[in-house]
Amino acid sequence: MSQFLSNCSARAMAGAAANLLSGNLVAFPTETVYGLGADACNADAVARIYSVKARPADHPLIVHVGSMDALGDWAADVPEYAISLARDFWPGPMTLIMKRSALAGDFVTGGQDTVGIRVPDHAIALGLLLSFAQIGGTGIAAPSANRFGNVSPTTAQAVADELSEYLSDADQILDGGACEVGVESTIIDCTGDVPRILRPGAVTVVMIEESTGLRIRDSAAVPGASVDEEVIRVSGSLDSHYAPVAKVVLDRAPRPGEGFIALAGVMAGRGVVRLAAPESHDDFARVLYSALRAADVQGLDTVVVEQPSGDGIAVAIRDRLKRAAHK
Ligand code: TXA
Ligand code: MG
Repeated sequence: MSQFLSNCSARAMAGAAANLLSGNLVAFPTETVYGLGADACNADAVARIYSVKARPADHPLIVHVGSMDALGDWAADVPEYAISLARDFWPGPMTLIMKRSALAGDFVTGGQDTVGIRVPDHAIALGLLLSFAQIGGTGIAAPSANRFGNVSPTTAQAVADELSEYLSDADQILDGGACEVGVESTIIDCTGDVPRILRPGAVTVVMIEESTGLRIRDSAAVPGASVDEEVIRVSGSLDSHYAPVAKVVLDRAPRPGEGFIALAGVMAGRGVVRLAAPESHDDFARVLYSALRAADVQGLDTVVVEQPSGDGIAVAIRDRLKRAAHK
């Protein structure tokens, strides 16, 4: 059983940072989803992330840092366009993949010669990173705080529900309320001449092209296309992922007794269990994962989701739903 901290004072965060430095795990809120953090330079602590999540060891982790000044610590090669992205969107829901420095061990990168780096936009995450840096820490490795293949948690309670039985007494869960964005960061491969999206998120194609002045390769937004999994292992790119226990079915009329998630304007028939009625696409992303979790809490067999159309964050929502529905 881990410690659950709902009062994240500066003192509590300094304590959590010290706890990380001594090799324990700290789950913390970010603007996207909750992360399960470990000292990114401590091989044993990072190994515990994999065992708590039951995640295959060759899936790389994202290193979280407090500002873009830390890029040089972790990345060996930072292209001009990556600096422009970092300036425009950090802190924020974006992860940049770059050639790794010597600091990024195989135990963080899954043995690849690249590393994922992100500056999260959340007061508690940034406070934790700052306190961690003040005591000599260089980065916090953190995947989403769920068991492998499950829906990412967007509340501290969801983290506790997922992981409590696998965490130890010294590990901690920091409660920062519900996440603002609700789906994981946009992952951008910055190892080529132009950026390439590996996982869509709140930082969109249009935003990336405007920031860099480059036309980008967007494998995620092209229907039917997929990233080369031989070259880059992105666990979120596995066919089945982000899935609740309930069966997820897309874009058909819900029947009585089934869960239903759709924009507020879409009516559901009698006996349908309305799990969420978001007013906008941003709202849809924010509530999606907790609505999928609610289906399991209520023991529903099936959840029908009517997907939002169009660009922007809707691309990320459809990407996650496609995988949630794949079983
Ligand atoms: O929003 C987020 O990104 C959240 C919060 C906690 O920051 N984190 C997150 O981590 O979603 P995770 O581990 O659940 O998903 C990160 C994805 C994984 O699919 C991983 O394979 C990929 O990023 N990744 C990490 N480093 C990589 C690398 N060097 N090359 C390719 N993919 C990488
Ligand atoms: Mg994940």
